[in-house]
Amino acid sequence: MQDHHGSKDLPGYNPGSPDVAKSPISFDEFRELKATCLFTDEDVAYLRLSYDVLKDQAEDLVTMWRGIIAQHTHLANYGLDRATGEPDKEYGAAVGKRFAQWVLDTARADYDQAWLDYQYEVGLRHHRSKKNKTDHANAAVQIRGRDLIGFAAATVAPMRPYLEKGGHSAETVQRMQDAWWKSMILQVTLWSQPYMNAGDF
Ligand code: HEM
Repeated sequence: MQDHHGSKDLPGYNPGSPDVAKSPISFDEFRELKATCLFTDEDVAYLRLSYDVLKDQAEDLVTMWRGIIAQHTHLANYGLDRATGEPDKEYGAAVGKRFAQWVLDTARADYDQAWLDYQYEVGLRHHRSKKNKTDHANAAVQIRGRDLIGFAAATVAPMRPYLEKGGHSAETVQRMQDAWWKSMILQVTLWSQPYMNAGDF
């Protein structure tokens, strides 16, 4: 997988590492899921176009998404340390950096086997199986499945002004955002696997 930051400069962000869980679905099944999402090579092209537009805005996007979380107590509470009831700032900062890297990797759209495996890992890290482990945090035990899935809407809907900053036509901006929607739904579908009853995914 090209150009992923290793754990040295971005602690805990480790696609391709032996510590990462292996995808429970095969690459052929992943191809089928992409077809289910109507995710095509054209979407890959528009995501890559969005890369140049977003590459210097990843941190601004994370700040914006965090603003949404801060506005809703039930979401903000996920970031509190369970011992002190205060926000765990170190945990928040570490996760924020990985979230910004995610923006770039989503836009690069190099969705190979290592990426597919990492999506299972991201699901596990929101779920009680692996949440808090990477950063040795003591925050909420897990993100509820409904908030994880629902937040996909809060992630992509407010992206438009950021996508517009590249100076592309309204139609091209729309296509870039459509590609982001499809990728987000594809990813949140993969992330939901640990939340489903065995045999239901
Ligand atoms: C569908 C929308 C969401 C996206 C795109 C997203 C994205 C991410 C990414 C990229 C990571 C880092 C994964 C890694 O370790 O490499 C992460 C972790 C995390 N996210 Fe989300 N997330 C979403 C929903 C949510 C929601 C709703 C919350 C709660 C308000 C949340 C809270 C967290 C926390 C606490 C972590 C750290 C988990 C850990 O302990 O490793 N996420 N998220």
